[in-house]
Amino acid sequence: MIDPHALREQFPALQRSVDGHPAIFLDGPGGTQSPQSVIDAMTSYLKHGSSNLGGHFLTSRETNQATADARSAMMDLLNARRPEEIVFGQNMTSLTFSISRAIAREWQPGDEIVVTRIDHDANISPWLRTAEDRGVTVRWLDFRPEDCTLALDTLPRLLTTKTRLVAVNYASNAVGTITDVRRVAEMAHSVGALVYVDAVHFAPHAAVDVQALDCDFLACSVYKFFGPHTGVLYGKYELLDKLTAYKVRPASDEPPGKWETGTQSFESLSGITAAVEYLAAIGGEEGNRRSRLVKGMAAIKEYEATLSERFLRAAATIPGLKVYGITDIEALDQRTPTFAIRLEGISPEETASRLGERGIFVWDGHYYAVAVMERLGVLESGGLVRIGFTHYNTFEELDRLIETLREIATI
Ligand SMILES: Cc1ncc(COP(=O)(O)O)c(C=O)c1O
Repeated sequence: MIDPHALREQFPALQRSVDGHPAIFLDGPGGTQSPQSVIDAMTSYLKHGSSNLGGHFLTSRETNQATADARSAMMDLLNARRPEEIVFGQNMTSLTFSISRAIAREWQPGDEIVVTRIDHDANISPWLRTAEDRGVTVRWLDFRPEDCTLALDTLPRLLTTKTRLVAVNYASNAVGTITDVRRVAEMAHSVGALVYVDAVHFAPHAAVDVQALDCDFLACSVYKFFGPHTGVLYGKYELLDKLTAYKVRPASDEPPGKWETGTQSFESLSGITAAVEYLAAIGGEEGNRRSRLVKGMAAIKEYEATLSERFLRAAATIPGLKVYGITDIEALDQRTPTFAIRLEGISPEETASRLGERGIFVWDGHYYAVAVMERLGVLESGGLVRIGFTHYNTFEELDRLIETLREIATI
């Protein structure tokens, strides 16, 4: 299991305080902090001379190398088959809007797609807008409000021979539920539909293996796993090769170049490699990078489950505190350590503000999981408070959070 205290030393932002209180970063699902190695990699790229791809001089060759390194790092993190399956872009939302247009070129009026009520809007609206443009019918996969688990048993009823795509998250950024993506892919593929996975919330919490999942596309965002603000899209090579991209004329016709519009943030690409190396180092020094990543992410998952258990046991003792989502200690492998809560009689905004005054950073509202909040009936009343642990949070921080929540609940 990991020692968060040792790892925290690497994160300058975690050393901050607010009015004398050490800052507690429980806002990871909105964006994580970066270790010094990521900061150094980004500044080093800029310091030694930035350039563009394909030039016949030193800094351009270094930029080619930084790009290739980041692609190979992401290939290892996601277990892609080849580096050309990794596409970089501004963020997950922009990548999803862009590829959704390309995927939909083959859709016909009367075709169908499936989206879910548990997804972040970045994996709903791009598909709704595209479906509208192509005259395609949208079917909604629901979740059970009692424990916020997807009603996967109802998916076969939504799938027909006309289904072209199923868009689903790997984990909910609002309530932390993990989706059985492998099962979704099997069901979707049985009717010939593609599967588009939003792994933005899942990626910092456990190892992703696109080959084992057999998903067709999977998108994530590096700022959610300790790196810079850049999005990454994995796509099966055959699909990235076959689909027609909206691109400028001289750009390559081959993946990944045909999907990467304009100039990338090369300093961010340098940061991506460092973020992946940081996670791999948690897995020790033996074996190749993929095997160290698998070990490192397993250690993170194991430690985060201890945070979840401690949080759920303590939260149950706070008067008027309701946790939305999985609360069964036996089912912790089906959730990330992200908890959506409400304190009776206190608005989420007020709870978050009071925690913020004491240096405890949490989000309130809908965090773009609009469909989740609608389904839970809390959208109009301020949404929920989101407490998001990552591997750099400690038991001491958790205990201070609980004490503070207890104080706020009993004012
Ligand atoms: C689950 C999930 N999907 C998608 C997004 C959007 O990611 P990006 O900011 O990279 O567009 C977020 C951001 O919060 C998210 O949490």
